[in-house]
Amino acid sequence: MLQSRREFLALSGRAALLALGANFGLPTNLLAASPTTGFEKPLPLPGESGLFGLLAPEGKLTLTAAASPGAFPATGAAMLTYIAQHKGKTFLNPILVLRKGQNFEATLVNGLDQPTIIHWHGVEGPWRQAGHPSYAVGPGGIYEYKFPITNRAGTYWYHPHPHRLTAKQTYLGLASFFIVVDAEEEAFSRELDLRLGETDIPILLQDKRFAKDGRLDYSPSQDDLLMGYLGGTVLANGAHQPTMKVATRLYRLRLLNGSTARIFNLAFLHGKIRMPFFLVGNDGGFLPAPQQLSEVFLAPAERVDVLLDLRALAPGQEVFLQNMPFDPMHNEMSGMTEGMSGMEDMGHENADGHPSGENVTLGEGDSFQILRLLVERAQTYDRQVPKTLPTGVQPPTGAGVVRPIALALRDMRVWTINDQTFSMDDAPIVVQKRGPEVWQISNAKASMPHPMHLHGYFYRVLERRGSPSQVKDRAMDSQGRVATDLGFKDTVLVWPGETVSVEIDFSNPNYPGEQRFLFHCHNLEHEDQGMMLNVQVNG
Ligand code: C2O
Ligand code: CU
Ligand code: CU
Repeated sequence: MLQSRREFLALSGRAALLALGANFGLPTNLLAASPTTGFEKPLPLPGESGLFGLLAPEGKLTLTAAASPGAFPATGAAMLTYIAQHKGKTFLNPILVLRKGQNFEATLVNGLDQPTIIHWHGVEGPWRQAGHPSYAVGPGGIYEYKFPITNRAGTYWYHPHPHRLTAKQTYLGLASFFIVVDAEEEAFSRELDLRLGETDIPILLQDKRFAKDGRLDYSPSQDDLLMGYLGGTVLANGAHQPTMKVATRLYRLRLLNGSTARIFNLAFLHGKIRMPFFLVGNDGGFLPAPQQLSEVFLAPAERVDVLLDLRALAPGQEVFLQNMPFDPMHNEMSGMTEGMSGMEDMGHENADGHPSGENVTLGEGDSFQILRLLVERAQTYDRQVPKTLPTGVQPPTGAGVVRPIALALRDMRVWTINDQTFSMDDAPIVVQKRGPEVWQISNAKASMPHPMHLHGYFYRVLERRGSPSQVKDRAMDSQGRVATDLGFKDTVLVWPGETVSVEIDFSNPNYPGEQRFLFHCHNLEHEDQGMMLNVQVNG
């Protein structure tokens, strides 16, 4: 039955793509390709308009959050999108491209039937610009944003942040990239002959469940609210098992995990061979130097910016972006024993007791293919991966007030931070004097991995202690840091039993007046259930 439903989805997806072909900017020969076993659909690439179109705003931008019929690439069903008009073109979930130093001005129009607010994830700005849930606007309401872009060049993103509705609205489609460029970054791209949307590709990874009619199904059970809502289908830019046609050259891929809960362990496979790739950036822009890797963990909200060299391949050959086996470490119930990886196959009843539309058979630690890169043509390309990167990354000093942060499960029911859950009006963390602090974030042993995110500022990871073996194996220095810990982070994955120390400089940016930012788990089921605290930064 699952099989026939998949076929149905594939067929309706094809019809929808045909109908929307112009919007996606897809060549029609791809759409007409004869069906094979998966990987026949093209990866939706950011074009000049439509879904994930590239939009470098001139002047004030209006983003309307609303349902868009037929917009969902995987099934052709409706999904929620941010709709924008710019220079006579229509965009859905535009990939915003901003220059450092530019003023960003946007109006959110709430076309939903419930409150919403946009959060610019990783984008620096005072808290009234950052999408705090206390600023959510009701149906028909508007919210005005205006702030200068001060971030380093890098890959950021945006999604809703209304109280207890963040997971659902993000899941139903409201999410896209916010890319910041500057002169150094442009020089880097020129050096490697990279073009955004052609050889520099933003790829949004999300797992989903579908209702029978092909619409996205967000109906978490009590178990799902505790452990995270996993979907049995993993999408890249909204498409299931798509293909991107490539040439024998370097590609830059900006991978964003936009799932509510699923952690990926990503690798590029050519047959059984793992292709080496170079990590050049993460949440907060470029690293000090490229790091050669063969696999990388990517937790919800994290980004990796990688260079992949396809010069060793010949036309007709293929490479798969694939999830590699790992232990998802759902140790909630057990405490001391590592790895109850069967846990996420338990119980698929909705909170109201009805079975959900789809059985989730894809565990986080399973091996599965996500995206195919098919070499279409040979190209002469002689650029090399640079030894250093445009940076300005000083090593962290490790100085500052030490603040212990404890992550734990209370009564087998709710995840807590320092034994507290979210209250809109309280600020359990008060930063009295602006300057550096060291947060020692410790996760209980009877726990699961929590990707911990802070609004407004970046982390510098100082060390990891008590890491599980699958993380320790990837340590690259005596502080136990992994490659993705280098540079600037806004979301840091803390595994069960682990303590991750991060330095946060609350004087940079030095926002005017008292600020109230959020610190939360980016497993969005956890966040909506209250694994989130206000952080007050005194003026
Ligand atoms: Cu992307 Cu408060 O989060
Ligand atoms: Cu954020
Ligand atoms: Cu969590």
